[in-house]
Amino acid sequence: MIIPDVLINRLKKANNVAILTGAGVSAESGIKTFRDPDGLWAKFDPRELASVDGFMSNPQLVWEWYQMRVGVINDSKPNPGHFAIADMENMFDVFTLITQNVDRLHQQAGSKKVLELHGNIVENHCFSCKKPFNGETNLPDQQLPKCPECGGNIRPNVVWFGEMLPVAALNNAELAAEACDVFFTIGTSTEVYPAASLPLMAQRNGAFVVEVNPNQTSFSKKADVQLAYPSGIAMPEIVRILKEQK
Ligand code: OAD
Repeated sequence: MIIPDVLINRLKKANNVAILTGAGVSAESGIKTFRDPDGLWAKFDPRELASVDGFMSNPQLVWEWYQMRVGVINDSKPNPGHFAIADMENMFDVFTLITQNVDRLHQQAGSKKVLELHGNIVENHCFSCKKPFNGETNLPDQQLPKCPECGGNIRPNVVWFGEMLPVAALNNAELAAEACDVFFTIGTSTEVYPAASLPLMAQRNGAFVVEVNPNQTSFSKKADVQLAYPSGIAMPEIVRILKEQK
């Protein structure tokens, strides 16, 4: 694999680096992406399983689907892509990691500051009164837990279609995109907004934008460099070269 010199030179000069990740970064950990041919949305309907309306019409079904995903995530580990990204946190004066992933594998790999644009699947709260729920979630027959305060249905802390993204995380992600010298978009189809607008925002503000994705996306042609490799291959190689040369 060849990492272009232009990218390494930009990184050597960079003070401020931002990274946006998507499901592809966790693919090598055995977690399915959404829009690949074998992805979750090829088999499941996001309107039924990842929307407020879907939860209101069948909360038990949605809860079971998320519990199935929690099971897969609990059985997976961070991969070399996650570890390389965690390493990069210490290599620049300012570094921002923005993720659309809900699996917390970046944190498990050692990333300390992560802007979670789509929430996380590990924590839960009450759909009705919004209070955090820390009770038992592993009930017999994957029964939907009820809020001890108001009796409402418990839901995961993920962002569903049609919901607002966490305001602070999105604001900080936009500020990072505007201020960075180099911006990476890794393992995302750049189909879901507002996350998908971040690489363009970075480019408009003068950042050098790199895409890491084995497949073409709607952003590929706009990227300053496109690395058509899995993130678990490309990112450790970039870190290795930087450590050797910096
Ligand atoms: P997608 O499934 O849309 O895109 C995953 C991308 O990862 C694709 O472009 C793949 O080519 C790429 N990919 C696959 N394996 C890879 C690897 N080993 N290394 C690098 N890239 C790889 O997932 P996202 O873009 O994350 O939102 O999807 C965005 C949002 O849509 C998700 O957060 C989720 C989903 O609906 C909600 O549920 C709200």
